[in-house]
Amino acid sequence: MKKILAFTGSNHPESINEKLVQSLINRFQEHDIRFIDLKKFDVPIYSAAIHEAGIPQPILELFEIFKESEGFILSSPEHNGLPSAFLKNIIDWLSVIKQRFFDSKPVLLLSTSPGATGASTHLGILTKLVPLWGGLLKSTYSLGSFQDNFDEEKMIISNAEELQKLDRAFQIFNKEGENIIKSNVDVVQGYFNAFQHGDIEGILNSFHPDCYIVSVKEEERPTEQLHGVYRTREDAKQFLKNISSLFETKEFLVQQVVEAQGNLVVAKGTFSHLVKSTGKLFNSNWVQLCIIEDEMIKEYRFYEDSAALIEASNIQYA
Ligand SMILES: Cc1cc2nc3c(=O)[nH]c(=O)nc-3n(C[C@H](O)[C@H](O)[C@H](O)COP(=O)(O)O)c2cc1C
Repeated sequence: MKKILAFTGSNHPESINEKLVQSLINRFQEHDIRFIDLKKFDVPIYSAAIHEAGIPQPILELFEIFKESEGFILSSPEHNGLPSAFLKNIIDWLSVIKQRFFDSKPVLLLSTSPGATGASTHLGILTKLVPLWGGLLKSTYSLGSFQDNFDEEKMIISNAEELQKLDRAFQIFNKEGENIIKSNVDVVQGYFNAFQHGDIEGILNSFHPDCYIVSVKEEERPTEQLHGVYRTREDAKQFLKNISSLFETKEFLVQQVVEAQGNLVVAKGTFSHLVKSTGKLFNSNWVQLCIIEDEMIKEYRFYEDSAALIEASNIQYA
């Protein structure tokens, strides 16, 4: 990518989002990244009446700069779970010139905040909106606990693991091609699609290599017991093996997949398994909770009607 435009959604003179963007520009100096300070494009809050009188000159200038750019890096502060009013206003003005003002160009979304979430709540919202504004959303990254993880003297992320994540986000953003990031819901939906088609490789690739799987009970288990804890993608193979040695799945319905806060995706549905050892049907509602990281399932918890399983398995208690 040749001309990249970087900006923040902050009008704070000491903006931590600006520090994050500047650190990225310093780090990738070989790239043509131009920083633009949106404070200089401060304009009245959008109103149809002002609009009728004419679009403010700074917005017309900003739109021209957008037109010349080939990709965008936006670091957005979070105010009460949403983008700042300052940024929203500039977006409103740009959108009246052209609804899809990002014009089918790549976008990297960043955020940071003093809190642990790094303003990732509102980034989930922006992830859905950027495509409506014409952006090809390539990658996102949130830096949590800014004061603990950023060295303001050296102007660099001081936490090596976090720095690696930012590098990765930038590399994905800068890669040629149309690969657009999957939403968290898409990741889980992809897992279900693979599951419903018996696509073992697809299922395993949906799991993060370092995943944590809880099948009903959060406790250690003998290798061939289905319920319990599995760790790593390698162990996920055993999880699938345990399911298929116990059951023949007659039906697996997904009724709802929704995203909650903090990269959590909640899904619910029903299934009907034939218990191989008894020939009885095990019918159950289920709930699945997934935490998504790097477009993979990092944490997976599956809950079903254990009492119905006991009955279908002919287990008797004295
Ligand atoms: C009105 C208000 C609401 C805020 N809401 C949130 C929030 O929902 N989530 C969050 O992580 N930080 C929140 N913050 C803290 C901001 O993340 C913090 O002020 C940060 O410095 C803003 O980024 P900036 O320095 O780049 O402007 C809020 C701050 C203000 C003033």
